[in-house]
Amino acid sequence: MHSYTFATVFLLTCSAPCLVAAEPVHPGVDPLETSVRQLVEKHCGSCHDGALGTAKPAALRIFDLREEIWTARMSEDQLKKVIGRTQNLQLTEDQHREIEDFIQKKISQRSGRRHRAQSPHPAALHR
Ligand code: HEC
Repeated sequence: MHSYTFATVFLLTCSAPCLVAAEPVHPGVDPLETSVRQLVEKHCGSCHDGALGTAKPAALRIFDLREEIWTARMSEDQLKKVIGRTQNLQLTEDQHREIEDFIQKKISQRSGRRHRAQSPHPAALHR
């Protein structure tokens, strides 16, 4: 019984900080979103993170990492340029692929939205 109690206490004290360490960002967020954000924060944050003193107003007009969905204000064209601007970074192939997948996903989510927005009542077209 004693050793059982000890093990329980040990598990309880250890598992809370361990879980926190494994999930630094909001649980439930797309892991792709999290890993690309980390890359962008590291390589682009100096100008595109409004929380930093080095941020450039012109850069923040394009996107600002203070915004949770930092891609929201960007046009499809600008989203594609993110791939271009990360091309020369010293990243692993996996990281380059993550950025491309992420941007593709954002673009396809949008075209889905636009489609629905433009034709909310498809039947109306046939009148
Ligand atoms: C040294 C500061 C700086 C860094 C670092 C930086 N940017 Fe920018 N970025 C700017 C500025 C300033 C603008 C607006 C003027 C322009 O288009 O160059 C901009 C514009 C952009 C645009 C819009 C381009 C267009 O033609 O519409 C994209 C996309 C972009 N940045 C992505 C990135 C990405 C991705 C990174 C990291 C890999 C990054 N930037 C790093 C300063 C920076």
